[in-house]
Amino acid sequence: MAWATSSRDCLRFISSSVEDTERLGRVIGRALRGGEVIGLYGDLGTGKTTLVRGIAAGLRAAPRLVSSPTFVLIHEYRGRLLLAHADLYRLASPDDVAQTGLSDYLDGTTVTVVEWADHAGAELPNDRLEIRITHRGRETRVLHLSATGPISGALLRKLCLAAGRSRPRSRSRTG
Ligand SMILES: Nc1ncnc2c1ncn2[C@@H]1O[C@H](COP(=O)(O)OP(=O)(O)OP(=O)(O)O)[C@@H](O)[C@H]1O
Ligand SMILES: [Mg+2]
Repeated sequence: MAWATSSRDCLRFISSSVEDTERLGRVIGRALRGGEVIGLYGDLGTGKTTLVRGIAAGLRAAPRLVSSPTFVLIHEYRGRLLLAHADLYRLASPDDVAQTGLSDYLDGTTVTVVEWADHAGAELPNDRLEIRITHRGRETRVLHLSATGPISGALLRKLCLAAGRSRPRSRSRTG
């Protein structure tokens, strides 16, 4: 795991491989309590679906069932909690979000993860964990996590603890 920085409000993670991104997803999946909304932001091929695969594994939902919802905009995966995975890439306009049924999942117990969350307009709740992913080289990705309310804040705090645990111990040997 390669956590770059963490503060009370945000956390940065450098991924060097698909496996790294999936591993971060598993850490997130294990930390979920139900009712969280996670918005994924990032260009084509940055690894949003890869991250969702890890989240599903962390929830003990069969990871192979998670694929990009190409025709259906929302897929459901049943693990320790219900996971709704939406991909809004093909949404023509934010006005069309209402027709996807996304709001049905915002019930306080389902975990909702939304790819291309910037297409959701006002349909996403104000309280969400935002994960912004950017390319930095062929296999390197920077994932920037921030919380926008109390539920996502609690999740982020858990992830900060997990990040602390997974940091390499400082080298204190003196010789
Ligand atoms: N560190 C990395 N993390 C995730 N994916 C990586 C990484 N390095 C390379 N890749 C490659 O990037 C691609 C990510 O695909 P993925 O479908 O997860 O992206 P996406 O952001 O969901 O794309 P889309 O916007 O089309 O939905 C895969 O081909 C994967 O092999
Ligand atoms: Mg995708």
